[in-house]
Amino acid sequence: MPWTRRHLLTLEELSLAEIDQIHATATAFKKILQRNVKKVPALRGKTIVNLFLEPSTRTRMAFDMAAKRLSADVISLDGASSSTTKGETLRDTAQNIQALNADMIVLRHAASGSPLYLSRILDIPVINAGDGAHEHPTQGLLDTFTMRERLGNMKGRKVVILGDILFSRVARSNIHALAKMGAAVTLCGPSTLVPDWFTAMGVKVSHDLKSALEDAEVVMLLRIQHERQSNGHFPSLGEYTSMFGLNKTRASWLNPKAIIMHPGPINRGVEIDSELADGERSVILEQVTNGIAVRMAVLYLCFGGQPESVVTVD
Ligand code: CP
Repeated sequence: MPWTRRHLLTLEELSLAEIDQIHATATAFKKILQRNVKKVPALRGKTIVNLFLEPSTRTRMAFDMAAKRLSADVISLDGASSSTTKGETLRDTAQNIQALNADMIVLRHAASGSPLYLSRILDIPVINAGDGAHEHPTQGLLDTFTMRERLGNMKGRKVVILGDILFSRVARSNIHALAKMGAAVTLCGPSTLVPDWFTAMGVKVSHDLKSALEDAEVVMLLRIQHERQSNGHFPSLGEYTSMFGLNKTRASWLNPKAIIMHPGPINRGVEIDSELADGERSVILEQVTNGIAVRMAVLYLCFGGQPESVVTVD
């Protein structure tokens, strides 16, 4: 089946076959990234604009690096240095970027649905780099890519996502992808941050940390997303940590071969202790590294490349 999408907006809309295609393409690009010469001319002549109107370290740098490894020209614009601070709308900003002959926009924005909106008014591809609490599709793709590298087939694997699920676009993208892969996903955290209605997404909800973690093969920690919370969802950070923070004792409840994941940024000593974040079961920095190959795959495919043609990109 050929790849046909120009935009990447959500994992909800992707089929399992499309997720498999992105992962297969990322595997091929990962091999290229391990060579002495890490660059290929696949997107030579294309200009990609990274429009990041919310802060980012990992996603922005990985998109930047991915585009450069594919020989595209990259321009990054953040909120503080753009004319949005003078009242310009997202629509006007994006239309001006298109008028400057950009070939693609990678958008991070606080408003859910903003990438979909741009995809409807622009003629160029739009990639969602995180929209509000809605989705972060490339994060979900790199997380599941990392799980597959470590565990193989995800069918029936017990995955726990622990923390602030309610405000997490990362959780939503992972839930969509993992459900398609047949994983057994449990969401865990305080009931105010993990409401029972998430079960409608085909996952279990638990507010009991021990039973959730028992025998899990993957635990993904999420930080408390203060920037999206309007009022207190728990009494204090200390109380949250005492109830749901991952420490050495609680990590001993996991399957002995379990991997520990976190999309970053980490709040050490809150959702995860440093000795676990830096320990041998942690794949947190592997996730970051995989983010380059996965984003190369997304850029390449949305510019019309096909998974099987990566071998000819040199
Ligand atoms: N995981 C993630 O989105 O991190 P950044 O906010 O640093 O991009």
